[in-house]
Amino acid sequence: MCGIVGYIGKRDVAPLLLEGLQRLEYRGYDSAGIVIAGKSGGLKAVKAKGRVRELEARVPKRFAGTTGIAHTRWATHGAPSDVNAHPHLDTEGKVAVVHNGIVDNASELRAKLEADGVVFASETDSEVITHLIARSQAASLEEKVREALKVIEGTYGIAVMHADFPDRIVAARNGSPVVLGIGEKEMFVASDVAALISHTRQVVTLDDGETATLKADDFRTYTTSGTRTTATPETVEWEAASYDMGGHDTYMHKEICEQPDAVDRVLRGRIDDKFSTVHLGGLNLDAREARGIRRVKILGCGTSYHAGMIGASLVEGLARIPADSEPASEFRYRNPVVDPDTLYIAVSQSGETYDVLAAVQELKRKGARVLGVVNVVGSAIARETDGGVYVHAGPEVCVVSTKCFTNTVVAFALLALHLGRIRDLSVADGKRIIEGLRALPEQIQEILAQEEDIKKLAAEYAEAKSMMFIGRVRGYPVALEASLKLKEISYIHAEAYPASELKHGPLALIEPAMPTVAIVPDDSLLEKNRAAMEEIKARSGRILAVAHREQEKADHTILVPKNEDELDPILMGIPLQLLAYHTALALGRDIDKPRNLAKSVTVE
Ligand code: AGP
Repeated sequence: MCGIVGYIGKRDVAPLLLEGLQRLEYRGYDSAGIVIAGKSGGLKAVKAKGRVRELEARVPKRFAGTTGIAHTRWATHGAPSDVNAHPHLDTEGKVAVVHNGIVDNASELRAKLEADGVVFASETDSEVITHLIARSQAASLEEKVREALKVIEGTYGIAVMHADFPDRIVAARNGSPVVLGIGEKEMFVASDVAALISHTRQVVTLDDGETATLKADDFRTYTTSGTRTTATPETVEWEAASYDMGGHDTYMHKEICEQPDAVDRVLRGRIDDKFSTVHLGGLNLDAREARGIRRVKILGCGTSYHAGMIGASLVEGLARIPADSEPASEFRYRNPVVDPDTLYIAVSQSGETYDVLAAVQELKRKGARVLGVVNVVGSAIARETDGGVYVHAGPEVCVVSTKCFTNTVVAFALLALHLGRIRDLSVADGKRIIEGLRALPEQIQEILAQEEDIKKLAAEYAEAKSMMFIGRVRGYPVALEASLKLKEISYIHAEAYPASELKHGPLALIEPAMPTVAIVPDDSLLEKNRAAMEEIKARSGRILAVAHREQEKADHTILVPKNEDELDPILMGIPLQLLAYHTALALGRDIDKPRNLAKSVTVE
């Protein structure tokens, strides 16, 4: 999951590309590189292991040009190093390629090329693309690229430059996101609008199997077989400023604090008080079809999968439709029975997660109806599904998802209420849930106001080598998500279990050095949760409870305001985002760019 960016125009290109790489760094940050068309001809490249700032330090003062491409990497093939960083150039230094994705048949192609005498500089799969283009006898750069893509299997978002064609950049997409930024006598190409939004909000999103030629004053798109395609620029919804840190020390802290406004945004214009229901314009599912649904299957990865679990309990609770959530890759490879009366819902913040996209494409191939619950507008999953709900969380830059998790669960509450009121959910229950939804932004603000206390607690628990998270039914996915947050940024080993499972094994782990975080809402399972805390206390385990009232069995209790039982999971996760944040901060971790991770997983 790398980030690519390119520019062709009148302005000095290097500062533009380095700024673009900074904004794409959440996609991968183990090495980076840049190549420009020198004023006196030829290509000039600089690459560096490490962050973009390491690359910036290496770019010579005299590095001028008006056309260039650049890359920030998340290594898949070949360890992070200067030579494995992109761009990859051919032996003559005439062709340069930056690639996001994986060339599945790279070793086979490499063997053929090496047999033909090609000398490879790196261990990467991507370098084969460069040599295939360099060896093409086709007349135009576009044809050379198309010829190379014919033999490549796998996923790619690429940008290509050639010293003999200094007036253009050629880009192509298959499975990995590529957007074009249309400016005044200048053009951009990037993996994500984040890299170009401060220069233009006019973008074209390439489809799979599409290529583009960018010149300073023109852009054209084609199929990979060379047929012209039409591409109408769209205006990006988000402002450039929304990508800034807004005075916070980290994007994670900013995004946690943005949640009251974000929730307000996902509710805006969707509540219908007259019929105690909600209006979801993009669903593309009429009432008759909604009544015909016999099952709901939610697919996602990581945090989105956890949001789907709470979504499933909301759909089952409010619409009385059997529902569950499953990791998309597991679903895809277990050859599931695809049922025509099942509504499939793909959940994704980025809308580009490969495992989810591939599951959607598989379901579509089998004639299933698939909706999307997605944050990034115009992303692949949003465009591939039959309809859906945008969660309007705004740009989420930190690798670790917070506000988008919360907005996704709220979007599921809206969907469940919509389906419920089409089926058998009463007006009174509709009203109850709507009041609960409207109370969320203020209640989240109340929780955020406890940050200093949570920071103190984090200092107390930060020394733990391992932590256990427990919850029951609606509380279990909250425990799963909270343990994932802690793992992702503090690197503390954390496990989550249904509280009822403790005595079936995990209780063996309980000891004073292994604290437990217990999700203890005021609902019908309160006594059951208390019994689980008793079991832990009996083994001298330390307990931090998240609850609606003080828990005498717990060493510490974080209080959250009560909402409707169905909506409580939305609030109970918020203090644990802050706990993970301050624990990682206390351990001096790089919060926004945790090791080994990336924001959008566009490879399998
Ligand atoms: C969450 O903090 C992680 N970044 C990760 O688990 C993420 O949720 C997962 O990769 C799915 O991403 P998506 O929502 O963009 O599809």
